[in-house]
Amino acid sequence: MTVTIVGAQLGDEGKGGIVDVYGAAADVVARYQGGDNAGHTVVHEGEEYKLSLVPSGAVRGKVGVLGNGCVVNPATLFGEIDDLREKGLDPDVRVAERAHAILPFHRVLDNVEEDVKSDDDLSAGTTGRGIGPTYEDKVGRRGVRIGDLLDPDVLRRKLEYVVPQKRALIEDVYGVTLSEVDLSFDGFDAEAAFDVDAIYEQYHEYGRRLAEEEMTVNAGAFLADCIDGGETVMFEGAQGTSIDIDHGIYPYVTSSNPTAGGACTGTGLGPTVVGDGEVIGIVKAYLSRVGTGPLPTEMTDDEETLADETRERGGEFGTVTGRPRRIGWLDVPMVRHAARASGFTGIAVNHVDVLAGLDEVKACHAYDLDGETLETMPTTTERWGDCEPQYRTFEGWPDVDWTAVAEEGYDAIPGNARDYLEYVSEEVGAPLYAVGVGPEREETVVLESPL
Ligand code: GDP
Ligand code: IMO
Ligand code: MG
Repeated sequence: MTVTIVGAQLGDEGKGGIVDVYGAAADVVARYQGGDNAGHTVVHEGEEYKLSLVPSGAVRGKVGVLGNGCVVNPATLFGEIDDLREKGLDPDVRVAERAHAILPFHRVLDNVEEDVKSDDDLSAGTTGRGIGPTYEDKVGRRGVRIGDLLDPDVLRRKLEYVVPQKRALIEDVYGVTLSEVDLSFDGFDAEAAFDVDAIYEQYHEYGRRLAEEEMTVNAGAFLADCIDGGETVMFEGAQGTSIDIDHGIYPYVTSSNPTAGGACTGTGLGPTVVGDGEVIGIVKAYLSRVGTGPLPTEMTDDEETLADETRERGGEFGTVTGRPRRIGWLDVPMVRHAARASGFTGIAVNHVDVLAGLDEVKACHAYDLDGETLETMPTTTERWGDCEPQYRTFEGWPDVDWTAVAEEGYDAIPGNARDYLEYVSEEVGAPLYAVGVGPEREETVVLESPL
């Protein structure tokens, strides 16, 4: 049995919290794409865990797997594992030997290319973690995989091929003098990030630790064995549908497939396995966005104060980068698009408490594009940017004791909020499984448990 958790919007919908809530009944939690661009938050007993790579099930002591579809920065992974150990947890994380390693030059290239693109308004506002360049090398068949870190000869051979190319790219194409780049991370400065020996030494050491702690696996075989043995596997999507490389607002997207199909290609299990289970779309009751590009329902002009208040109430600052998130009204066509692309069997709507206290709450029901009404997203981002939201207005709901509401259950949620939730569920064509009314584990109203 499997359950797949997918972001229905632009990331940061509260996926980590829902994985934590439903994860109680899971044995294994597996990430299938992305890397340390993700920032998933779990709050339990006042302690806030911010997880970039370690799957969110770690807070409940579940086995975590980073599938082959992930890109893994070993420095982040070990740093996170060590931090969690300091907090008294004992994370058991397995990494797919087929997953790709983020190398230091990927991070430098990510930052440099973003800088260059910003002159033409083409930068995606990336997290700067080297995600795009690593996936480029994977598809270009010149990447270094986690399994390669275990074999010194293969590691060196691959680095000797790829590093000089990257050095030429940064120096000759981008015209960057590495000694002048003010960037350092994970023990690398920009010069060392393009040095075969420096990378080899560090990544060989990472390989040694991975082997010593017996962390590497054939993810597909490992997960299939778990399922065959009667265990329950949860797939934890990172990012969200509208920043999916195929289904998102290209080019302001990430470089992987957060949609449910990614759970197959990114783990080594078939669509029948993923499709046999549930696929739950995680929806934020409004929109938040870190990154660039259009955002038709963004609260701007006379709604700027409301955006600021919502940002403060919802703590809408990037988990990874600390950037203030842009705020908008719920974009229903975006969620309809997500429900189709992943085949949601249910949805969880989070942050209902954050909208409390407003006189009215708006939701973009459809778009007006050149006089035509659209109920789903146009395929080009430029056309999406031209869309004028057609709003439905809902009466606001009061701020209440949300912890008490969560304890009492769905009927204790204020009626106007329930009207809003039922509208969303109806439009998206998927039943409401859970409602988030606060960040704590206990602040989720569970209507349906998929496990
Ligand atoms: P993820 O990337 O989808 O896991 O989401 P993030 O962790 O980046 O961002 C969600 C933020 O909202 C975190 O700080 C969560 O603790 C918090 N959160 C999640 N659900 C709720 C909710 O229902 N209400 C409130 N107020 N906060 C929530
Ligand atoms: P979680 O899992 C929100 C955005 C970046 C940028 C674009 C590309 O916490 O929901 P990247 O570094 O991936 O190449 O950046 O995608 N982005 C996210 N936005 N939540 C995330 O993850 C994100 N991961 C990437 O801001 O616009
Ligand atoms: Mg996040």
